[in-house]
Amino acid sequence: DEDPRLHDIKTKIRVVPNFPKPGIMFQDITTLLLDPKAFKDTIDLFVERYKGKNISVVAGIEARGFIFGSPIALAIGAKFVPLRKPKKLPGKVISQEYILEYGRDCLEIHVGAVEPGERALVVDDLIATGGTLCAAMDLLGKLNPFLISYYITICHCSERVGAEVVECGCVIELPELKGRERLNGKALYVLVECF
Ligand code: PRP
Repeated sequence: DEDPRLHDIKTKIRVVPNFPKPGIMFQDITTLLLDPKAFKDTIDLFVERYKGKNISVVAGIEARGFIFGSPIALAIGAKFVPLRKPKKLPGKVISQEYILEYGRDCLEIHVGAVEPGERALVVDDLIATGGTLCAAMDLLGKLNPFLISYYITICHCSERVGAEVVECGCVIELPELKGRERLNGKALYVLVECF
């Protein structure tokens, strides 16, 4: 049986048609944040799932992954690491480009923020096509040593983070966009599905 908190969370997410472009049904989590009980329930559901799982780092994806990832990290006793859009982080970074429907984007992490072998949870507000979560996992994930020279040549990156991504957690999934299939079998936990 479904947790009654999930139904309440779903009702607090506002759907805005034709934003930011015609044909897009925008899932607006700012209305969820206006309700302290529904916001707390959202965080609690993730904390109940991930506490005691030996997760040492929560990686939140800019921008809305920061809102949910930070309180989850505090509650499970993990550090919080922001995965940021380009040119936002002041230190030395590792970058991962990814393809969007139109164009490209990039996520960056500070070198040294995560040690090789750490157990990581990736948090975002929403999975649509899955491209963003894939990029986050590529950024955090282990590198096959045989691919190092390939990465240096093709991506101009000499370093990878080498964390173990335990799971991706999102508030909302848009199942029709089949993002889950793009995650190559990596575990994905979502609270609500929107159609
Ligand atoms: C949205 C959302 C996810 C991503 C999901 O972010 O918050 O991060 O899109 O899409 P995907 O599964 O198709 O990759 P957006 O690109 O709007 O960036 P923002 O949070 O910085 O506004």
